[in-house]
Amino acid sequence: MEGKQAEDKKFKEWEQGEDAKFKGWGWCLLVLLIGAMVAAAAGLTVLKGFNHFKKSSGHHGAINKKYADVLELALQFFDVQKSGKLEKNRIPWRGDSGLQDGWQQGLDLSKGMYDAVNQLGYAQESLKWIIDYLINAHPSPDVLYIQVGDPDVDHNCWQRPETMTEKRPLLQVNTSFPGTDVAAETAAAMASASLVFKKINSSYSNLLLTHAQQLFQFADTYRGSYSESIPQLQKFYNSTGYGDELLWAAAWLYHATGDKLYLKYVTEMNGEEFSNWGNPTWFSWDDKHAGGQVSYHSSQSKTYIRVYVKFCSRINMFGVEGMSTEENLELQMYRETAEAFMCMLLPDSPTATSSRTENGLIRVLKWNSLQYPVASAFLAVLFSDYMVASHIPTLYCSGKFYSPADLRSFALSQADYVLGKNPMEMSFLVGYGEDYPQYVHHRGSSIPVDAKTGCGDGFEWLDSLS
Ligand SMILES: *[C@@H]1O[C@H](CO)[C@@H](O)[C@H](O)[C@H]1NC(C)=O
Ligand SMILES: *[C@@H]1O[C@H](CO)[C@@H](O)[C@H](O)[C@H]1NC(C)=O
Ligand SMILES: *[C@@H]1O[C@H](CO)[C@@H](O)[C@H](O)[C@H]1NC(C)=O
Repeated sequence: MEGKQAEDKKFKEWEQGEDAKFKGWGWCLLVLLIGAMVAAAAGLTVLKGFNHFKKSSGHHGAINKKYADVLELALQFFDVQKSGKLEKNRIPWRGDSGLQDGWQQGLDLSKGMYDAVNQLGYAQESLKWIIDYLINAHPSPDVLYIQVGDPDVDHNCWQRPETMTEKRPLLQVNTSFPGTDVAAETAAAMASASLVFKKINSSYSNLLLTHAQQLFQFADTYRGSYSESIPQLQKFYNSTGYGDELLWAAAWLYHATGDKLYLKYVTEMNGEEFSNWGNPTWFSWDDKHAGGQVSYHSSQSKTYIRVYVKFCSRINMFGVEGMSTEENLELQMYRETAEAFMCMLLPDSPTATSSRTENGLIRVLKWNSLQYPVASAFLAVLFSDYMVASHIPTLYCSGKFYSPADLRSFALSQADYVLGKNPMEMSFLVGYGEDYPQYVHHRGSSIPVDAKTGCGDGFEWLDSLS
């Protein structure tokens, strides 16, 4: 009994410590956000891919209105987070902010989005908003600005972005202080966005591709993790390595350019070293960081990235002409790892992950816990569509066979849980359903527009119940 009490107490202390660390999410702009944006661009690109599949295979054509509505609602989150001079603003309680960001260096870094975005999104307009910011943050080939604002200062404030008056220092990575991970991830964002804009505005699309190629070159040539180059960032966004971002960027550049060199990069040249083949479990990977302060931040993008990179297998499913045997073998490794990951997700598979709640929601880490089920659901749908598109009827998991429909029903189970099919009958999407969270940890929405609060006195709104 005593042992248990002591353990509970320890857990409580740990939990409070963690809460304290997280309390001060700031209004600092971080390029790490681009993880979410890559996801958004990936989503847009993939959606286009789905349309293609639909036409070619006649596979599940009907759009489910419920999920379409949900998507539209979820997308408002990007509007809520916007920094800069707002255009066509649909959020009544948001206004212009951060207008002078970047002026010290003669840059316009006013656009962008405030930290704490971790959703997938499909809005082209929001995508352009952040991509414009990334263009401005990359003023020359080997310089990338990765942060605007001082997180330490911001964490001591609770205020609306429209009223902040604190200094907004800039932080860059360059050849002497490299940031392979952040530069490669930015390259991936730009490359994937270039696909989205290809038909909409080809000169914009080409501009993005040029930035992407320069950033990839910079990332690959000057190798080092940004949080090693600039240790003060470890407290907030500790990077766990850059190998997967390099693969991720190269994979997107291959899709965007069709240049076989990028394919070689993810197979022959670096596949073995960076991709962690045969080890699809995110939790073994996360375990290393368990208790690490913002592990969930990096793990979100990283899990996503690793898994997606493994999805390079789709190249294999569709076949690449003129590929060497070695390249084919390496792609096969990606594919096997992706399949193993799918087998983990399926709830009754022999290799099903036990990282699940009693009611079947994937649960990996406490922080931002819904990112895992939602990202998993997305990937399961993607994989099932690839199976259909490439006429692969079954997925084999240690003695049992599964169909694309099984993967879809797993994906729906996760989405439905999030939307209210759970023991609390609560929707976790604010604004959706009858019952959803009312007091979200969000500065802009917790403080009334007309409240005259500055940095410190705004905290009364953090704790208030009205
Ligand atoms: C390179 O980046 C570091 C870290 O942000 C910075 O201190 C340094 O001034 C930069 N170098 C140049 C030449 O701007
Ligand atoms: C297309 O992109 C270019 C380059 O960014 C820009 O100057 C131009 O205004 C864009 N055209 C349209 C129609 O948006
Ligand atoms: C950040 O990660 C590195 C490498 O994983 C580790 O050595 C370092 O201690 C971490 N720093 C913090 C503050 O957690």
